[in-house]
Formats: sequence, C-alpha cells, structure tokens
Amino acid sequence: MPQDRVDPQFHTIIEPFRIKSVEPIQFTTRAEREAALEEAGYNLFNLHADHVLIDLLTDSGTGAMSSEQWAAMMRGDESYAGSRSFDRFEAVLKDITGFKHIFPTHQGRAAERILCNAALKHRDVVPSNTHFDTTRANIEAVGAVAVDLPSMDARYPEEVHPFKGNMDIEALRLLLEEESSRVPFVMLTVTNNSGGGQPVSMANIRDVSAMCRNFGVPLILDCCRYAENAYFIKLREPGYENSTPRAIAQEMFSYADGATMSAKKDGMANIGGFLALNDDALAGAARNLLILGEGFPTYGGLAGYDLDALAVGFGEALEEPYLRYRLRSIEYLGERLVAANIPIIRPTGGHAVYIDAGRLLKHLPSDQYPAWALSCVLYLVGGVRSVEIGSVMFGRQPDGSERPAVLELVRLAFPRRTYTQSHVDYLAEVLLYVGGMRERVRGVRMVEAPPVLRHFSARFEPLDGALLV
Ligand code: F0G
Repeated sequence: MPQDRVDPQFHTIIEPFRIKSVEPIQFTTRAEREAALEEAGYNLFNLHADHVLIDLLTDSGTGAMSSEQWAAMMRGDESYAGSRSFDRFEAVLKDITGFKHIFPTHQGRAAERILCNAALKHRDVVPSNTHFDTTRANIEAVGAVAVDLPSMDARYPEEVHPFKGNMDIEALRLLLEEESSRVPFVMLTVTNNSGGGQPVSMANIRDVSAMCRNFGVPLILDCCRYAENAYFIKLREPGYENSTPRAIAQEMFSYADGATMSAKKDGMANIGGFLALNDDALAGAARNLLILGEGFPTYGGLAGYDLDALAVGFGEALEEPYLRYRLRSIEYLGERLVAANIPIIRPTGGHAVYIDAGRLLKHLPSDQYPAWALSCVLYLVGGVRSVEIGSVMFGRQPDGSERPAVLELVRLAFPRRTYTQSHVDYLAEVLLYVGGMRERVRGVRMVEAPPVLRHFSARFEPLDGALLV
C-alpha cells in the first residue's frame, strides 16, 4: 500500500503535512490592483509582495521549510573552516550523487559561473536539452556558445508524451561528430524548466551519457529539480515502478561526471546551491574560483545553518508522499484547465503549469505580447502573480532585432509545501473566469526597456487604454 494512504479505498492525495506556522496573505481590491499595476508599469516583477495574493512567480527559494529543517538550523556550525554543517551537507550529497568533490555555493548560477570559468574558453560549444537562462548567460559570458537540442516531442505543446524533457540524441551525435574538440562538457537540465518542467527519462540520460563517453566529453547535470525528475521516472518509465526516488536519483547521477544545482528548488531551502565534480583537475580550478568569489570551500557563500537546512531538505525532497502530492497538485490544476479548454503544455511538469497564451489569445499577435498581457490580467482579476515566458523574455536578439518566441507562455510555478488545495481551487476559478472572457483581453506596448534581461524591468502600457475591454 502506498505510504500516503491509511486504506486503499481512499484515493484523495492529501497534503502530507500539517501547518505549524502561518503567514497571512494580503487581499486587495480590484481598484488597488489596478493602481498597483499602473505604478509597476504593467510589469509584475515591479509589484510589492504585499499586493500579491497568490505568488506563483517562481518555485525558487519560496517554499516552506519543515520543522526538522528549522531544528537542524539550530545545529548550524558557523566555523569559517571545517564546519560540522559542511560534513553533514557533503555526506548527504555524496550519498545521493556519488560525486567526489562537492562545493557549496550561494545559489545555482554561482555554481554555473564557476564551472563555466573553470572549463570553458572563447568559441567552445555547450549542448543541452535546454539551457536555463542563467546557464546560457554564464556560458555566453565567457564567449562560448550555448546550444539547445530538445527532443522533437517537445515541439507540440498539447501532445502528451511521458518524457518531453529529453535531449535529441541524434542532434547531439551530429554536433559531437563535427566538433567534439570544442565541447568541454554536455549539460542535461532535469527537469527541463524552460521546456515546461518536463522530465528526462533514464533511457535518455543513459544514451546521452554513453554518447558523451564515446566522444570523451563529460556530462554535467543541471539538477535543480532532480527529485521531481526521479519521481516521474518511477511513475512513467517501465522497470522503475518499484524503485525508490533515492535509488532512481542515484542511478541518474551515476551516468554523469558532475552537477550544478540551485538548491532553492529540490534542496527545499530558501537559499543555496552546489557544484559537484569527479575530475580532480577541474575541481582544483573550481575550488580556486569558489574561494575567489563565494567563500572558503566548506561554506561557499552560505551560513552553516543553511548547509544544515539543505542536508535535511535533500532527503525530504526524495520522500514519496511529498513527491506524490507535489506532482499531483500541479496535475490537478492542469486537469481543471484542460477540461475548460484552456490550452496548456501537456502533460503538466513537475513544478509549474504553463498556459499557452498564444493559443488562448489568438487575436493578439506576438508584438502585442499575449502572454505578458495574460499575466497582467491574472493579477488584475485574481491577485495572482505568474511569469511570462514568451516574446518579452526571448524576443530581443543579440543584434537588437526582434523575433517572436516559439511559444507565448505564462508559467504558474508552485512554491513547495506552501499553498493548499483550496488555493489551487481558487486559481482554477480565476483562470476559468479569464478563459471565459479571453476575447476581451487586449495587448500591451513596451514603452521602456533595458538592453539586456528586459523582462525584469521593462515598462508597458495597455494598447487600448485598458487590459480588458
Ligand atoms: N537552472 C535551472 C533549471 C533553474 O530553473 C534555475 C533557476 C537555475 C539554474 C539558476 O538557479 O536561481 O539559484 O541561481 N530558476 C528559477 C526559476 C529562478 O524561477 O525558474 P539560481
């Protein structure tokens, strides 16, 4: 019998925790939200958190820690060097990943920056299933080229496929045949965040690993959401039904030569990350960069108590009742939306629901930023904060020209262990309401934008004087 039921006749998947500490959320009036939006230049990043009711901007560092994590924090050893907290952090990660060298960092992008500076040079090439934007930016910052090779299955948002996060193995073969000498490492993002939080199968990880070994190129996992990926493998890949998520994760890591991680996701803590490597020479270079930019190798930019919160969190993220509830709460919202004909990326991924705003708002061309407009409307109507992953985020090209993003998406990312089913029911109600008046939604115009990463600070205006007519 699954561990999350007291009797097989009961099928409701409940939150596998009770709440010990609560944080009030803020209710606002429509007029207050209208004013807040205008003041924010119609950019949800500019909103004050007090004006947001349900915050689905990101699942990164926004989750709730457990009583065991808070208790562990009291054991934090704040010694500058050789702290017991580091020993606990390292031991847990060595057990899960099997990697030889474990370097704590303050978050994921610091691990990426160190890896890129230690391993890459100008004009090198780094293939991935899909690079996350900070990974791409760190690769490009050292003059190398980031190449995305997602599997063909990822191209059709509404087509259900169990492992849409996979890498296109033939495309990888072609690239390595042509220029493996310029490829210092290959990356795999598990789950594939930019592609919809979709998992990568064990078979794909194994194939990518074998191909990399053939060409003598190391494989690095971007493993922010490795526990969610492991549970998808258990649910969907034949042969893993009876394996524990921990055993699956251990097998996933066994095919790789190192990993970068934002532990703000499946580390279940509010801050932290790590870089893990097997190669001694590369680890030596990384250690120097760590000391230069983050701190001594036994704390790497974190407090001892952060390391202890993470040492417990890594274990909790692999617990089945938690993972079952986690994936189910995303799937539950997805089912409600699909039943109401609101187009989403299917199947739902591990950490977020991605609404296909391009299809929902067919009357808005990409230069009117349909996904951006939809995210503003969700806030206006329901106080919900989401994030656009579309032509505002990706439209601007390095030469300054504009090219529409492949998909116009709105991501609703769920912080871990933070919202309950009634919050999700509320979200569904808001989304269905907006879906019902889709033709009333109007586009936006960008009136001010910085040259890089414009989505964080650009300002907008509704094209017709209002977001809804
Ligand atoms: N890799 C992936 C797959 C990520 O999703 C993120 C962060 C990072 C690396 C960078 O980690 O933020 O700790 O420096 N993703 C967050 C998000 C920000 O909202 O998806 P970081």
